[in-house]
Amino acid sequence: MDYLRGIIDFHAHILPNIDDGSSSAQESVKMLKIMQNQGVSLVLATPHFYDARTSIEDFLEKRDKSYKLLTKEMERQNVGFPKIKLAAEVHFSYEIVENPKLDLLCAENSRCILIEMPYSTWYDWMYEGIEIIKSRNLIPVLVHLERYADFSDGIRQIEKILELDVYVQINADSFMKRKSLKVIDKLFKMNKVHLIGSDAHDALIRPPRIHRAEKKIINKYGKKAWSQIQQNAFELLNL
Ligand SMILES: [Fe+2]
Repeated sequence: MDYLRGIIDFHAHILPNIDDGSSSAQESVKMLKIMQNQGVSLVLATPHFYDARTSIEDFLEKRDKSYKLLTKEMERQNVGFPKIKLAAEVHFSYEIVENPKLDLLCAENSRCILIEMPYSTWYDWMYEGIEIIKSRNLIPVLVHLERYADFSDGIRQIEKILELDVYVQINADSFMKRKSLKVIDKLFKMNKVHLIGSDAHDALIRPPRIHRAEKKIINKYGKKAWSQIQQNAFELLNL
């Protein structure tokens, strides 16, 4: 497979034994094989990072160990694709915004930082926090933004945060949820769907299903929309 021609999965819990994602290196390889069958050539490994639970240094050490465990299993099973780039799904907090080491959590070889907003009301300081992250010359990517529409004030919050000119990543599985389709459609019409991720957690219950999103996007919004999403990923990751 041509490394630069396949799909880029921008969000996946592919690394073993580090969060609520893959529970073993064998499980991770199963997930990689599913991804490869769907045409994925590159996946961002995005384990959860919560600054209330761990330091950035400890997280990176743990991530490194997990990555080594996975690459060893990939070698053992002779699995070379998809390629993996290390990143993190950073839970937004007051402290993280000013953390001087925040850039260590960027996706490999980029200024791109994946932010998971809180599942609650967003206060003014949170919007300001995103602005601060931007002012640090980092590029915030808000993960699965469509999911926040479920809250009573969700749509208004989404509209407000989009004013900050941030990148938006949508989960492939959300295309299978009727409730999410409405907000996804709204985001597409606003030209605000920049990236797609599987947000896969395992090979069975929450498996990689990015191919379904690919089909739905091409059918409803055209090939050009899908190509643009892939192009955005290329550019953000400096490929
Ligand atoms: Fe996730």
